[in-house]
Amino acid sequence: MPVVVVVGVQWGDEGKGKVVDLLAERAHLVVRYQGGNNAGHTVVVGGEKLILHLVPSGILRPETRCIIGSGVVVDPAVLLQEIDELRRRNITVDESRLFISEAAHLIMPYHRLIDVGREKLRGKKAIGTTGRGIGPAYEDKAARVGIRMADMLDAAVFKKKLKANLEEKNFYIVHRLKQDPLDFDRIAREYLEYGEILRPMIKNTVEIIHSELNKKRNLLFEGAQGTFLDLDGGTYPYVTSSNTVAGGVCAGVGIGPGHIDSVIGVCKAYTTRVGGGPFPTELVGELGDRLRERGGEYGATTGRPRRCGWLDGVMIRQAVKVNGIDGLALTKIDVLGGIPEVKVCTSYELDGVRQEWVPAGAERVERCRPIFERFEGWEVEDRAYDSFDALPYNMQRYIRKIENVAGVPVDIVSYSANRKDTIVIKNPFS
Ligand code: IMP
Repeated sequence: MPVVVVVGVQWGDEGKGKVVDLLAERAHLVVRYQGGNNAGHTVVVGGEKLILHLVPSGILRPETRCIIGSGVVVDPAVLLQEIDELRRRNITVDESRLFISEAAHLIMPYHRLIDVGREKLRGKKAIGTTGRGIGPAYEDKAARVGIRMADMLDAAVFKKKLKANLEEKNFYIVHRLKQDPLDFDRIAREYLEYGEILRPMIKNTVEIIHSELNKKRNLLFEGAQGTFLDLDGGTYPYVTSSNTVAGGVCAGVGIGPGHIDSVIGVCKAYTTRVGGGPFPTELVGELGDRLRERGGEYGATTGRPRRCGWLDGVMIRQAVKVNGIDGLALTKIDVLGGIPEVKVCTSYELDGVRQEWVPAGAERVERCRPIFERFEGWEVEDRAYDSFDALPYNMQRYIRKIENVAGVPVDIVSYSANRKDTIVIKNPFS
């Protein structure tokens, strides 16, 4: 009956989609706890690629039920598109398998407009957001003016809240962003229609989760983005607007910390980041380009090229601590194949002083110089591996170093995007 959390230990795009898909085989319920359609979880099944932004990747397992928790911000148009896409692939998505928290906040058209408009105003200091309205939606939630899933089910309530919001937002849109105001009737019509379509799936998800907990079922909580995009612990202000860390689960789905049995950190064998912000181990030039091309490092949501660099052990060690990680799932180790020498950053130097932690504040992280350990690389092999011992010797040494730096074991090794190309040393559900 374990309750397992899956989190990213870097800046997102670690391959959480594949790991959740793999573990979901034994999970009764997969629950997303934060973020929105800024996320893009890529899964490859039977050679077919599918990118999920809101629906947990557990939906691909026919026996698994999925929840979008109250900590998620939902763009209903995107959710409906995703549901349609899944149905086109003959995957059942209805009120028997997908539940959306009635308390989840909505992403509104003005959130998207303000997100993009504000980024333009920031110029060179832009965060590089996904432009999906995530930050402005969470701002409204914190300001207690947000509109929630349940509000879409009551036309009078929805219209009252929309009117109050739109008055303020249109003032900002016209006077600050110099754009045309948004139309009340159009938004109301559109969202109330979404509400009617989604109505059967909008539920008190806290009740569903606790009922499953009482039955001692296997539960999987799926994070989006990564530890260093966390609003509190990330490289602020170059972060997203939610708590991506394992601690975000409790508030984002309505359970207590004592319910969590195990936390799996998903770690890519090198580091990537999309958007602005400091990146101590970044590789600019040929090697960075090679990682990007071999790893297919282009944003699953926006298509932007990802910045690439060596594995940063300081980040991983810190991620293990702040999330309470028990074991790592290492992904994309195949991408490093064929590079004669690979490096792992084990600490930083900041203004002449050795640092074992990622400092708070982007300006200080910017000044951190990585201290590397070097490893002999391994050849690219076009074959399947059935155990850790079957992996190339130098790859094994690299993995052992990661365990040593992180202070926790590597429980899963993934060496391609395919479901089957995975070595599971320890399954948290067994
Ligand atoms: P926002 O979440 O759209 O506000 O973007 C804030 C920052 O988080 C930007 O640097 C984005 O590129 C980054 N970000 C948001 N979601 C993801 C993700 O799923 N993977 C990687 N980076 C992300």
